Amino acid sequence: METIRIGVIGVGGIAQYSHIPAYLNTPGIELVAVADINEKKLNYVAEKFSVPHKFVDYKDLLARQDIDAVSICTPNYLHIPMSIDALKAGKHVLCEKPVAVKGADAEAVIKEAEKQGKVFMGGFCTRFGKTSQFLKKQIEAGKFGDIYYAKGANIRRRGIPGLGGWFTTKEQSYGGSMLDIGVHALDRMYWLMGAPEPVAVSGAVFQAFKDDAVDGGWPPVDSRVGDVYAGINDVDDMASGYVRFDNGATLLIEAGWASNAEPASYIQLFGTKAGAVEGFRGVKVFADTEGTLLDVEPQVDTRANTYEAEIAHFADCIRNDKQPMTRPNEIINVAKIIEAVYKSSENNGRQILIADL
Ligand SMILES: NC(=O)c1ccc[n+]([C@@H]2O[C@H](COP(=O)([O-])OP(=O)(O)OC[C@H]3O[C@@H](n4cnc5c(N)ncnc54)[C@H](O)[C@@H]3O)[C@@H](O)[C@H]2O)c1
Repeated sequence: METIRIGVIGVGGIAQYSHIPAYLNTPGIELVAVADINEKKLNYVAEKFSVPHKFVDYKDLLARQDIDAVSICTPNYLHIPMSIDALKAGKHVLCEKPVAVKGADAEAVIKEAEKQGKVFMGGFCTRFGKTSQFLKKQIEAGKFGDIYYAKGANIRRRGIPGLGGWFTTKEQSYGGSMLDIGVHALDRMYWLMGAPEPVAVSGAVFQAFKDDAVDGGWPPVDSRVGDVYAGINDVDDMASGYVRFDNGATLLIEAGWASNAEPASYIQLFGTKAGAVEGFRGVKVFADTEGTLLDVEPQVDTRANTYEAEIAHFADCIRNDKQPMTRPNEIINVAKIIEAVYKSSENNGRQILIADL
């Protein structure tokens, strides 16, 4: 296959700011069509990015034989049905995070991808940061030994996305901070730990700012063409989860859209040979060389565009019949962990066994 021909479904903030520009900047890719239920936004995006074809019904985009692959950039509740429809229509799929919020849904979409023999990739763009790629290589080379504990946080002071729109409407988002930003740190830690099998999860989610909520500015205002933000806010704005794995390792994840706390965006890995912290300030490795503790700050280039790297990888997988970096068991287990965090919270923090989901 020479040129890969792309359709983007859902042309809101992430499509306009990340997927579409990344496709347009990637050699060997042609953006053929966009789809969005919001016709005003659809027209605006098609014109702004000079996209030749546009559809209000995404099924009309999927019916085009000249499209090889699609990005799914719609609200969370549409990720699984749209991905399955796209796979059935013979398209490769890059699906935004959270791919699924139930293990069974993740299993269904993976099964469909295997049946159709198509690439199915999860949109976990933060894995493509240079610091994360550096850590993965070091870990795979055995430099960290066994990673027995990981903790990570994505905590904002006031950063609720799309207040009054689908992001804050549980029926459409399935949840708030844990699903939206917690999932990035969770996925990245889980991948770096080598994806052990999760056994049990405890969690708690909170909504402390329901009556005091402030819109955090995402999606960017200029991308919100024709959107109405007059709905409800019934999702978590702070959440935490604790996971136990079959190899004895554990993981702690914290996510907050709004809080009276120090903002944070980091992951920390504890390995038998070395550990690391990765966050706002890059990456720092904590090692031990012949009895001398060695704290090193590798000068990794952090300017890379993670979305362009993600899309280059998606294209490479399609072109060269490779398995995406987001492995099926990782997509499924991240969904199961998220599902169990919410289930545990609904059950007063009781530990949920993954086998019981
Ligand atoms: N990777 C990241 O870091 C990142 C960042 C932001 C958002 N996201 C994810 O991207 C997805 C979209 O988020 P966003 O910020 O772009 O939201 P958004 O509200 O700006 O865009 C969603 C778009 O989907 C469209 N849509 C809704 N129903 C549709 C339907 N039936 N058919 C076609 N289009 C439909 C909406 O009209 C809207 O234009 C979410 O799942 C979100 O979690 C990922």
